[in-house]
Amino acid sequence: MSQDNKTIATWYVDPDAEDRMADGHAPIWRHLFELIVERDLSQKSVLDFGCNQGGLLRHLYAVRPFRKALGIDIAEQSIAKAEAFKGNMPVQHAVGGRLEGWVEAFDLAISHEVIYLIEDIDAHAANIFKALKPGGVYYAVTGCHTDNPLWPKWRDLVAKRTNTVVRDRSITDYAKTFTKAGFAVSGRKLEYDGFVPFFEDGWTPDFADALDYYTQTKIVFRLVKNPNGAAS
Ligand SMILES: C[S@@+](CC[C@H](N)C(=O)[O-])C[C@H]1O[C@@H](n2cnc3c(N)ncnc32)[C@H](O)[C@@H]1O
Repeated sequence: MSQDNKTIATWYVDPDAEDRMADGHAPIWRHLFELIVERDLSQKSVLDFGCNQGGLLRHLYAVRPFRKALGIDIAEQSIAKAEAFKGNMPVQHAVGGRLEGWVEAFDLAISHEVIYLIEDIDAHAANIFKALKPGGVYYAVTGCHTDNPLWPKWRDLVAKRTNTVVRDRSITDYAKTFTKAGFAVSGRKLEYDGFVPFFEDGWTPDFADALDYYTQTKIVFRLVKNPNGAAS
């Protein structure tokens, strides 16, 4: 079986690390929302692919309420937490990695730091393309690519600390993959403009690296499905 639909308990081997990850990602998610061109989500359906404990959708709903959303992830216990935390939000969570049965269902899809973990990236691109409505947009965000100078160290850390396998792909590899799937591909640097906290957790022991990572290295792909639904 491909890794992409194989379920795991939690992504981090240490489940408590997922709470810390969510705290660390929250300011990045909020910065990302400001980059998303589609402003009014009140009538839109949203997909968060690789949602872990569901924090991104909770933060999004607080600032840009959407009509409904799906958060999906292969990590079963993380999805159980996402369900427990969702309150009255119009959000459904599912365990899995393939989006079976979701056809032209979403206006907007987001994945934050997930695409570098996907084994069959061509299948992922095709699945998201199919799951989006014509004219739908996929924002795929990652700094975990081979153009990241920290990547040789990070790929070992991810392998040790998590229950998934990393994939070595460049920014251009992603651009080509999504183009092949039919998306009109554009991208930008995340250019996070807030203060970056200094954490001695092994990811960025050199603080200069952390500052570069959030401003220069992390990439936001904007992937648009042609409004007539066909490949561009
Ligand atoms: C680095 S975490 C990011 C989580 C969340 N998006 C965030 O911003 O905090 C990567 C997540 O992707 C999930 N994941 C990895 N491979 C996946 C796949 N093939 N399908 C769905 N989710 C996947 C992991 O279980 C994990 O929750």
